Amino acid sequence: MNKKRVLSGIRATGRLHLGNYFGAIKGMLTLQDDPEFETLYMVADLHTLTTPYQVEELRQNRREIIIDYLAAGLDPEKSILFQQSANPHHAEFAFYLSSVVTIAKMQHLPTFKDKVKQYPQYVTMALLNYPVLMAADILIYKASDVPVGIDQEPHLEVAREIARRMNQDYGTDFPEPQIFKTIGEYVSSLTGEGKMSKSVEGSYINLTDDLETIRKKIAKIPTDSGKGIIDKGVYISRSAMPNNGVVAIAPSNGVKNLMEFIELFKGKERRKELDNQYQDVGLRYSEVKNELAEAIYQELQPIQEKRQELENNPQKVDSIISVGNEKATVLASEVVKEVREKMGLL
Ligand code: TYM
Repeated sequence: MNKKRVLSGIRATGRLHLGNYFGAIKGMLTLQDDPEFETLYMVADLHTLTTPYQVEELRQNRREIIIDYLAAGLDPEKSILFQQSANPHHAEFAFYLSSVVTIAKMQHLPTFKDKVKQYPQYVTMALLNYPVLMAADILIYKASDVPVGIDQEPHLEVAREIARRMNQDYGTDFPEPQIFKTIGEYVSSLTGEGKMSKSVEGSYINLTDDLETIRKKIAKIPTDSGKGIIDKGVYISRSAMPNNGVVAIAPSNGVKNLMEFIELFKGKERRKELDNQYQDVGLRYSEVKNELAEAIYQELQPIQEKRQELENNPQKVDSIISVGNEKATVLASEVVKEVREKMGLL
C-alpha cells in the first residue's frame, strides 16, 4: 500500500514558541505515529532569506530547529527530518512551478501584503516567491497533508492551485494538499491583540522558557475586574457596564485569551468551571495565572530536558540531519525527474 505523504516546515528565524508548538508540531507528532502516513519535516531555511536576517543566526537556527523537533518528540526512526536548502531540488522545483503562477496573484495574497507593511524596504523577488517555494516543498513529495496553523491557509490555497494547473497543463498527478488541523491552529498573543508571533515582543512564550519567565509573561496578560458576563465568547466585566448593563468600554481580549490558554493546557472542563466562576462569584486572576504558568511549564519541562541531552550530543544530531537530508533528496529527485520529463526538459 502506498502511504499518504505529509510535509511540514518551520522557518529558521529563532526560538520556537507555543504557537509553533500547537499549530504545527502537535499535528506533526500525531501524523508521525499514524501508520497511514509517511512524514517529512524540514527546517525552512530558504524561506528565512525572504525577510532581513543575520547570516550567523541563520547558520545556527537551521540546526537548532532540528534539535527543537527532536526535543518535542519527532523521531528520526519515524519521520524524515531535514534542512530544506540541503536538498537542492526545492529551489529548482520552485522555478518550474513559478511558470504557472502570475505575479498579480502573488501580490494580492494577504500574507505578502502583511510582510510588505512590516518590511517596506525589503520587498524582494524572494518574498514574492515565498508561496511558490512553499508549494514546491509540498508538491515535490506529492504530500497531501500539511500540519500547519490556520495562518498558512492562503499558502495552501496557492499550492492547490499550482497542483491543479500542473495536472491540467502537464498531466502530472499532484494531490491537492490540505491543512491537517490541530486544536491549537490559532494561538493568541499574550498581549490580548492578534496571534502569538515571533515578531511581536511580549506576545509569545518560547519552548525554552523557564517557570519564572513563563510566570512573568503570563502575569502581563491584560485582564479585568474578574467578574462579569460572557456574551457570544466575549468577556464583559461588570466594571465595563456601569449603567444597568450598558457596556461603557470595549471589552479586552486578554481574558478570552487567558481562558483559551486554560483550555489548551487544562482542558475544556476546567475552562467551563472558570467561565462559570467568572459569571458567578468572580475570579482571582493571580491564582488562574499561576495555575496556567505551572501547567505550561509541566508540558515544556520534558522538552527542555530532552533538548539539554541533545545539546550534549552534537554528533548524534549531525548524523540525524545528514541522514534526513539524504533521504529527502532521494525522494524529491523522483518527482523532479517526472516533472522535467513532462515539461520537456528531459
Ligand atoms: P513559520 O515559521 O512562520 O511558522 C511555523 C508554524 O507555526 C505555525 N504558527 C502558529 N500556529 C498557531 N498559532 C500561532 N500563533 C502560530 N504562529 C505560527 C504556523 O502556522 C506554521 O505552521 N510558511 C511556513 C513555513 C513553511 C512550510 C513549508 C510549512 C515553508 N515551507 C511547507 C508547511 C509546508 C511558516 O509560516 O513558518
